[in-house]
Amino acid sequence: MSVSLRIGIIGGGGWLGGAIAGSILDSGLVDARNLCLSYRSRQPDCFPDSFWTRDNQELTDRSDVVLLSVRPDDWHPLAVDASGKLVISVMAGIRLSALSERHKTGRVVRALPNAAAEVAKSYTPWIGASGITGDDRAMVRAIFETCGSEDEVARESDIDYLTGLAGSGPAFPALLAAAMMRHAVARGLPAEVARRAVNTVISGAGRLLERRNECPDNVVQTFLDYRGTTAAAIEGMRAAGFDAAVGEGLSAAFKKSVSMGAVS
Ligand SMILES: NC(=O)c1ccc[n+]([C@@H]2O[C@H](COP(=O)([O-])OP(=O)(O)OC[C@H]3O[C@@H](n4cnc5c(N)ncnc54)[C@H](OP(=O)(O)O)[C@@H]3O)[C@@H](O)[C@H]2O)c1
Repeated sequence: MSVSLRIGIIGGGGWLGGAIAGSILDSGLVDARNLCLSYRSRQPDCFPDSFWTRDNQELTDRSDVVLLSVRPDDWHPLAVDASGKLVISVMAGIRLSALSERHKTGRVVRALPNAAAEVAKSYTPWIGASGITGDDRAMVRAIFETCGSEDEVARESDIDYLTGLAGSGPAFPALLAAAMMRHAVARGLPAEVARRAVNTVISGAGRLLERRNECPDNVVQTFLDYRGTTAAAIEGMRAAGFDAAVGEGLSAAFKKSVSMGAVS
């Protein structure tokens, strides 16, 4: 992929836009001078060698690829003409057809990275409209590989589902960690020790899963077969409705994602 490529990130001053900008610069996919970022209220002081603007049409005109990374509500008033260009949205809920109509291009992609893009560990599912080319596909892969790993999915409804599972995903281990921490502190453990124990367990477990790359059910079964404290904990959590609670949460996220698209 050429470093002369020009990429523009609308909302580049935000959480996800900034994380993607950091990853594509760190990987060398794009040269800092060919990266354009837009902001709304205050120009961030990061990426000083890149071009910052408040004018999203100017950003689009200067770019070959435009990445949309504003909140869905802020996209509704965003009238940018990107005729003939590749537009990649990372916004939850906004449909390919709406993106294509609004930005006057058939080369549109919906992608769903997550907050782990900040540490180049995002999982990013994506889908393109029928107007995207083979080169566009390679470009989308190259961008999201700099942020972690990616998959092209077959149906737009898969993106709606994965918006909850993968897009919101980094929140779930944090939720588990918060519940573990509350329990430990209630049992009298000093907060500092509980925090270090819980955070290290969660990040270590992530590393282990990554290295083994096994089906999670097999990992759980290995712990169950050990028949020790871990099995007692897993059985207690399951009896209290752990699997059902996770299923309920993922279904709620899917419904929310679909409803966000319906109002676009
Ligand atoms: N964060 C995640 O983990 C995550 C995961 C998956 C998908 N997403 C999607 O990514 C998108 C961005 O999320 P985020 O978490 O990065 O939100 P965020 O931190 O609020 O960033 C959005 C940025 O867009 C800016 N903005 C709004 N309107 C603008 C405009 N007209 N021109 C230029 N900049 C504008 C905002 O500026 P102000 O400072 O003025 O508000 C803000 O800096 C959302 O659509 C979300 O659905 C996020």
